[in-house]
Amino acid sequence: MKKILTVFGTRPEAIKMAPLVRALRERPGFEISVCVTAQHREMLDRVLALFDIVPEHDLDLMRNRQTLTDITCNILSGIGDVYEAAMPDAVLVHGDTTTTLAASLAAFYRHIPIGHVEAGLRTGDMWSPWPEELNRRLTDSVSTWHFAPTALARDNLIAEGVCESGVVLTGNTVIDALIGVTKRLEADPRLAGEMAARFPSIDWSRRIILVTGHRRESFGEPFRQFCTALRMLASCYPDVQIIYPVHLNPAVRVPAEQILSGLPNILMTGPQDYLPFVFLMSRAHFVITDSGGVQEEAPALGKPVLVTRDTTERPEAIAAGTARLVGTDIGTILGAASELLDNEDAYRQMACATNPYGDGHACERIIAALEKETAFAVRGNRSRTPAPACAHAGMSGIAGASSTGIIVPVLAELAAVHPRATPSVTRVADADDADARAA
Ligand code: UD1
Ligand code: UDP
Repeated sequence: MKKILTVFGTRPEAIKMAPLVRALRERPGFEISVCVTAQHREMLDRVLALFDIVPEHDLDLMRNRQTLTDITCNILSGIGDVYEAAMPDAVLVHGDTTTTLAASLAAFYRHIPIGHVEAGLRTGDMWSPWPEELNRRLTDSVSTWHFAPTALARDNLIAEGVCESGVVLTGNTVIDALIGVTKRLEADPRLAGEMAARFPSIDWSRRIILVTGHRRESFGEPFRQFCTALRMLASCYPDVQIIYPVHLNPAVRVPAEQILSGLPNILMTGPQDYLPFVFLMSRAHFVITDSGGVQEEAPALGKPVLVTRDTTERPEAIAAGTARLVGTDIGTILGAASELLDNEDAYRQMACATNPYGDGHACERIIAALEKETAFAVRGNRSRTPAPACAHAGMSGIAGASSTGIIVPVLAELAAVHPRATPSVTRVADADDADARAA
């Protein structure tokens, strides 16, 4: 019996890990348990409820206006007891949040092999998205198994020196989750009716723009510009309805309410549960977002996406023509949105359903890889973690290396990739604290 502990803490990790947890629970040969850090609380709990997952361990860490330092330190000091109690043969983490990094580092310190779901995404810019690009790179560095969602992600890992045998091309588990929820909505017209009834002020015969926004690197002026662009868009197109489920982070919620309140065709709501959110995506004319997950889901539903970021680690939808990077400049956002509203040809070109992110079988591929795997930890004897099948070039045998022996070269590598990386240590700390203060 392979004993696997999955660790996650935020809404997107929960959505993307839920189908995997459920599939592993049904598979003989695995004993699966869930630890949530609760880096998010309400936004996480709603996903757990939807997918009927009751975590065995809950660190309950979320604090209002928490800093990156708070979350990292609290996870590192809190999760050790869980690892000691659960004694997993492997830990599975997802994506690029602070939970992902801290849970991986804590597992690495205990010689527990790590499987990284959604490995290999890269923008190449350590500051965008911040701090996620660092989180995912460091997590990949300490992982034994890299579950890459796309061929590009796999190639990124191999180009960085990860052995091919440690990389499995799986597709993204978000598509597994999306297909499951879409099927529920399609199979039950009453459910779709219930979803529509949740938004009584919306006229479903009119065009709808669905909006989300929450990235830390945009906090402050860029986020205010993004909101101003939405306000102007609503004024220029009174026939169009904008629905904006606002993230609970006060650094987002407060300026969004200040700038966007009081317009008849902007509906601001709290974060939506996944079921109504998928319903809204399916009814939207197009989507404006800086979300990673939504960039993957909307193209699968044939919805054009304007990505309000300067970079993306998900270039596949851009290459396919369904997504476009527009940054946070007011004129650029307005220009791109107007084109989609005014130019039918331009709209049609972007509204082609394409799905570069998966076929709904990502979880099966991850499980198949884990079933074949022999390099699990031997419980009670962790003096040496099984050598990862994927030791990085120049770091052969993570098993024997000290933690600083891994992290220091990775930071050096990052400094080489991005020249601002090294002198930025003070800046990061300042910005982290400033985040909380700005909110
Ligand atoms: C985090 C992740 C980001 C991910 C995003 C998904 C990091 C550094 N950031 O960003 O990668 O894209 O989640 O949404 O890991 N809050 C609540 N209730 C909740 C959730 C959040 O009140 O259920 C508020 C709290 O005041 C909290 C703040 O939001 O302190 C920020 O939450 P945090 O997880 O630190 O950052 P996110 O911006 O959500
Ligand atoms: N989502 C949701 N309700 C919302 C907004 C988003 O259920 O109100 C879902 C969305 O479909 C996607 C995930 O949350 O699966 C994305 O989360 P988020 O944008 O917070 O994080 P990111 O993907 O950027 O890390």
